[in-house]
Amino acid sequence: MNVLLIGGGGREHAMALGISRSPLCKKLYIAPGNTGTASLGENTPLKADDFNDVYKFVNSNQISLVVVGPELPLVEGLADFLNGLNIAVIGPGKGGARLEGSKEFAKAFMDTHHIATADFHTFQSWEIGIAKAYADSLSLPIVIKASGLAAGKGVIICETREDTHRTIEGMLSDNWFGLSGKTIVIEKFLKGIEMSVFALSDGYSYKIFPNAKDYKRIGEGDTGPNTGGMGAVSPVPFADDLLMQKIKERIIEPTFKGLKAEEIFYSGFLFFGIMVSEGEPYLLEYNCRMGDPESEVVFPLIENDLVELFMAVDAGRLDTQEIMIKPGFCTTVMLVSQGYPDEYEKGKAITVPNTLRDVTIFHAGTKQEGDEIVTNGGRIMALTAFGNTLEEALSRSYAAAELVQFEGKYYRRDIGKDLR
Ligand code: AMP
Ligand code: GLY
Repeated sequence: MNVLLIGGGGREHAMALGISRSPLCKKLYIAPGNTGTASLGENTPLKADDFNDVYKFVNSNQISLVVVGPELPLVEGLADFLNGLNIAVIGPGKGGARLEGSKEFAKAFMDTHHIATADFHTFQSWEIGIAKAYADSLSLPIVIKASGLAAGKGVIICETREDTHRTIEGMLSDNWFGLSGKTIVIEKFLKGIEMSVFALSDGYSYKIFPNAKDYKRIGEGDTGPNTGGMGAVSPVPFADDLLMQKIKERIIEPTFKGLKAEEIFYSGFLFFGIMVSEGEPYLLEYNCRMGDPESEVVFPLIENDLVELFMAVDAGRLDTQEIMIKPGFCTTVMLVSQGYPDEYEKGKAITVPNTLRDVTIFHAGTKQEGDEIVTNGGRIMALTAFGNTLEEALSRSYAAAELVQFEGKYYRRDIGKDLR
């Protein structure tokens, strides 16, 4: 069958590798794709937010399965549209995607279904006074979240009362995040260590994928501004059976039961952003898709035929599948451009020595220019490696990180260090 994969980052490169290896996949199209996916299928400039164009493309290329990488097309209803055309799609409809698209909805859902999460209140733009009063009743630091999508930037952790008041006004009255910030969630700060848990659902049952930990800050020791992700490891060494059991019982099970109770048909990936605080898991957020850069360590560990798995999702028969997970660890280190996540230069030639061993390169921000591959973004490429131990995998990712060269190369040298 012909498959269309929506997206163009490292996550989609990792998914494309899995899909292209399936004997069931005749032709893979990636929209828009990247330099890495170009060797696994055909990149196409198709825009996922133009449903008419998607319709034309899917028809003229006999697409039987559409896999949606990023959240935006899902929040906009692409999966509902494709379902209406009887095309298999991996990703929830608009109703399910609200779990990511509206933090107001997600937190109310967690509350209704008794899912462990930080105490919170939601406020609208005309409630600045009571929002401040509620924030004043919490101890510092305080977490303020724009309810809508904000490209991962809509969460502000306020360290002072002044900061808290300014942020409330900034979002509710000064349009810091446009419409996305016209409703805010104010919540208690939870101290702990974060991890990402993933489930794939067909609307009737679900399977848990390998868990992962990503590293969001630009600087070593988790300092400096947030990025799109500087590295990841899978599985998370501290996530033992007891913790995973608690996550299943207190978060995953009640979520899928809640979705059924609210008659929200959820198929596709569901990402649980978890904070483990003194051994107890709390749900920080849902995402209606896989993580990036977590995908660059999770998909390489999956031994299943991805297309077979996805078709089982479409048939509502995920219960017949067993997720086969490679033993050992997978790690990835992201190479980024100097200056990222602020200003950085593009167009620097990248050299990948052909002596590079034991590593898979997932492209994120690169471009083919004649015979050369050049930098074309902040996050350039993820260097993924396996190992029997976390140390072994990391040493391979890091050996590659040293060997790949481009002007202004930067990477964090402490990925996975906190877990050893
Ligand atoms: P979210 O988009 O809700 O996951 O928030 C983005 C990031 O903000 C998370 O990955 C956490 O690092 C941080 N964060 C969100 N909520 C909280 C909380 N209640 N306590 C501490 N940190 C939080
Ligand atoms: N790595 C976090 C995310 O994909 O949202």
